[in-house]
Amino acid sequence: MNFTERPRRLRRDGIRELVSETTLDATDLIAPVFVDATTGERVEIESMPGHERVPIDESVARVREVLETGVGAVMLFGIPESKDERGSRAWAEDGVVQEATRRITAETDATVITDVCLCEYTEHGHCGIVEDEAADDPRLTVKNDETLDLLQKIAVSHAEAGAEMVAPSSMTDGMVEAIRTGLDEAGYSDVPIMSYAAKYESAFYGPFRDAADGAPAFGDRRHYQMDPANAREAMHEVELDVEQGADILMVKPALPYLDIVRDIREEYDHPIAAYNVSGEYAMLHAASEKGWLDLRETALESLLSIKRAGADLILTYFAEDIAEDLA
Ligand code: PBG
Repeated sequence: MNFTERPRRLRRDGIRELVSETTLDATDLIAPVFVDATTGERVEIESMPGHERVPIDESVARVREVLETGVGAVMLFGIPESKDERGSRAWAEDGVVQEATRRITAETDATVITDVCLCEYTEHGHCGIVEDEAADDPRLTVKNDETLDLLQKIAVSHAEAGAEMVAPSSMTDGMVEAIRTGLDEAGYSDVPIMSYAAKYESAFYGPFRDAADGAPAFGDRRHYQMDPANAREAMHEVELDVEQGADILMVKPALPYLDIVRDIREEYDHPIAAYNVSGEYAMLHAASEKGWLDLRETALESLLSIKRAGADLILTYFAEDIAEDLA
């Protein structure tokens, strides 16, 4: 035996930490929070253990719980008291996200980021205005350009309520430019846009759609969200969002798309966010309930992998648990 290279030398306790290439920190994490205008009390989300829909009155208390763990940023999703064809409660001054944002920013130090989309606010559950014939013809869904005006209004209404960053998730072509223009004209040129640049049409969103009541009533999202088969297309989507002024580029879901995170990392210097989605969370919970996996260990390993692939920030339902473990 005569090998000079013995990688195991560096794996002993005390040394392995010194040579660790990737670190995870509570300041990398964003915790999603669901605010529900249809309920007067906190309601557990069955498929997302540990997460709840909270009424507006509880939103500050909920965010304080997040802050106590060391996580400083939240992503707000709203469940409105009523839905209509155009999702008008999404940009209402007294809408659920606007109201919660005002209270949270007034009463806490949390960084409030808001999801800008229509699917929770429209009767049909699609992320925009749908074509008249859409229910009968599966090839027709969202009217792209008509939807841009609405997204612009939503983003401005969130900024007016005090949101520190907006995150458009509807995969509408031109959405970043429309929102940037709207924010700038309204005097919010310092509010950044975290764009869901490469958002895939993924089956991993299942639990979220229960949580936020945003499943499409007919058809699916294949006509606007990306085909899981495509990687080059993701680079094109990212390029367009960069041209339109995106500040942070998001990939969603995270674990099945780490190659996309890495591809973007290699080409762009923008901060990259990855959304470790509801299905990625539910899956580990289900396996750990069966006693098949250790929840905290697999969660930590998942988030570390997402960072190793090149993400700077991670949206995750594990944010609070992991931050507590890291502390
Ligand atoms: C809304 C939106 C969705 C998610 C975030 N924003 C659902 C969807 O596109 O169907 C999913 C998040 C998750 O699964 O955790 N457009």
